[in-house]
Amino acid sequence: MANSFIGSPEHKEVLCRFFVDSHLPYKPAEMPWPDLNESERARLAALPVWNEAVKIESETALAVQVMARDERDPVLKEAITVQGYEEGRHAELLWLLTQRYGIDVPRPAPIEPKDKEWAFMRIGYSECFDSFFAFGLFAVARDSGFFPPALVKMFEPVVQEEARHILFHANWIAYTQSQLPFTQRPSFMFRRALAAYLMVARRVQSALKAKKAAEADGNQMDFTMKAYASITELTPGDFLRLCLKENERRLGGYDERLLRPTFVPSIARAAVATGRL
Ligand SMILES: [Fe+2]
Ligand SMILES: [Fe+2]
Repeated sequence: MANSFIGSPEHKEVLCRFFVDSHLPYKPAEMPWPDLNESERARLAALPVWNEAVKIESETALAVQVMARDERDPVLKEAITVQGYEEGRHAELLWLLTQRYGIDVPRPAPIEPKDKEWAFMRIGYSECFDSFFAFGLFAVARDSGFFPPALVKMFEPVVQEEARHILFHANWIAYTQSQLPFTQRPSFMFRRALAAYLMVARRVQSALKAKKAAEADGNQMDFTMKAYASITELTPGDFLRLCLKENERRLGGYDERLLRPTFVPSIARAAVATGRL
């Protein structure tokens, strides 16, 4: 049955309103950064993710800000501007974290993407993948005490921001595609499929390298996998079930007319259903 809401002016309004209204105003420098004892600090610093996380957030921030700058629809522009601001805040937050807890990472200087729509699309699909696993990892770090409770409390809204971003992405893709003239839709659909394919391909490649790197130093692993290997002792099947549960919980509270990202959860569900994990 065709869904007449998707692609309608109301869809755009509901999407952008949800996004702007659920934005939280906080400033990284004014957050209640907890003092950590040396073993807590060392455990945090030893997570092999900081370099890549700071770099990815900085690149994402610039790409989303460029997309917002050039967006002509005022309603979409406002929402994408908020997203660009939040991504810039993530970059700043991670940078402050590394500085405060003595984690040595270089400060990246991101380069403006040449094709802003392509960059925005790829960021969206990458966030769908990374956030799905980050939700599970965050739950493990929270429940196992891997992260001190004060740090968990401080980062909770940040993780929820990524849930809002992937919800925005899923709906932005569907809305944008519906607005194109029929002649331009095949090219958009092709780019969309390619962006999703590249997202999966890069992670599969990383997982294959990770298998080999397990006996070596782990440097070839994707940063999501590095975090998984460092934080949790759950079996892959139990971890995927946890990710699915957290994903549903984090996305469940928003307007039910909005589309949910389904691609990564459906792969995870299929993997769990094989019963081999
Ligand atoms: Fe982010
Ligand atoms: Fe994001």
